[in-house]
Amino acid sequence: MNFDCTEDQLAVQRMAREFADEQVAPRAKELDEKAEFPADLVAKLGELGLMGVAIPPEYGGSGMDYVTYVLAMEEISRACAGTGVIMSVNNSLVCDPLLKYGTDRQKREILTPLASGRQLGCFGLTEPGAGSDPAAMRTTVRQVGDELVLNGEKIFITNAPNADWAIIFATEDKEKKHKGISAVLLPLKNHPGVTVGPKEIKMGIRASHSSSISMEDARVPVANRLGERGQGFKVAMTTLDAGRIGIAAQALGIAAAAFRESVAYAKERQTFGKPIAEHQAIAFLLADMATELDAARLLTLRAAWLKDHGRPFSRESATAKVYAAEMCMKLTTKAIQVHGGYGYLKEYPVERHFRDAKITEIYEGTSEIQRLVIANHLLKA
Ligand code: CAA
Repeated sequence: MNFDCTEDQLAVQRMAREFADEQVAPRAKELDEKAEFPADLVAKLGELGLMGVAIPPEYGGSGMDYVTYVLAMEEISRACAGTGVIMSVNNSLVCDPLLKYGTDRQKREILTPLASGRQLGCFGLTEPGAGSDPAAMRTTVRQVGDELVLNGEKIFITNAPNADWAIIFATEDKEKKHKGISAVLLPLKNHPGVTVGPKEIKMGIRASHSSSISMEDARVPVANRLGERGQGFKVAMTTLDAGRIGIAAQALGIAAAAFRESVAYAKERQTFGKPIAEHQAIAFLLADMATELDAARLLTLRAAWLKDHGRPFSRESATAKVYAAEMCMKLTTKAIQVHGGYGYLKEYPVERHFRDAKITEIYEGTSEIQRLVIANHLLKA
């Protein structure tokens, strides 16, 4: 077993770390306060090759692998979790399925600008009545001549207010349940029949914007179907398997930031005549934080490694996601405790990390859904 990263993987990690420390971290507090989308940082992520890390260069990406993507995601999310999820959605929920299921034209014309960061993508699965159970979706798509006509509403779509493209999941035949669902590539900007709703006001990851997408007879060419007719549920599920690795990496980044703040504060803050780090109650808390963060990182890298080696990773990505998300929530709660009353103030970054942590237990499948995926794998074995 080899735990060493390659020189190329480490070089991308170093580059992401420098960019995160020098350009993203100094902006994170203000981006959170103003709920501002960091368009310039996203453009720079594109220039650094981080908007399509595991996409081949001929389609605008960096030609690296998922392990590298995890290393970079952790660094960016450590500085700003909102910027992290913008990157994650584009990489794993949009570019990844385009590479896997796209036609040659889709790869050249749609994937290439997305993977190079010149355009941004989003993933339109969730609906008001279909979150954990996407097979219950009501959005429809009808083939009329050589066009596909979409009707319905998607909600909570990360990146939608800023995105150029959405992958929309819609049913072509409700009777067939999940086997009637298709995936469709929909342009979002100034496209007739498409309305992108106002950005939602969120608890955390406020630099990333989410909104609804409404479609009223929105038309695209049949050539914009992604994958086969009726293959959409499979496209969604396999995409989420990989996407969950990205969210696990985001959770690692948030937790690593809160951990770092906690160690620094514990060394500096004095009570009863010595730094609180020298009280065993706090030292043990820090030891537990480090242990759980380490475990989550290993689970996340294992899932990425399996994907890179063409091995099954559905169960392992769900395991990484549920463990990393819950670790992140627990660790950021402990980080507030280490900071005492100061941790409850907006002035201290752990307050933001605590708010950012919560979403990792919700999106790309709640912790309950991850347990369902893991249990299904265990029981079918
Ligand atoms: N890979 C390939 N195929 C899969 C699969 C996978 N991981 N999971 C299921 N399938 C296939 C099954 O094999 C089955 O195929 P057949 O009919 O050919 O046998 C079919 O899909 C249906 O399977 P299930 O009966 O298990 O499906 P289900 O309806 O019970 O749902 C579920 C399973 C895992 C609960 C799924 O609904 C799920 O993942 N729900 C959560 C949805 C989710 O994660 N949403 C996130 C929204 S996106 C987001 O959050 C983005 C963001 O903001 C950042």
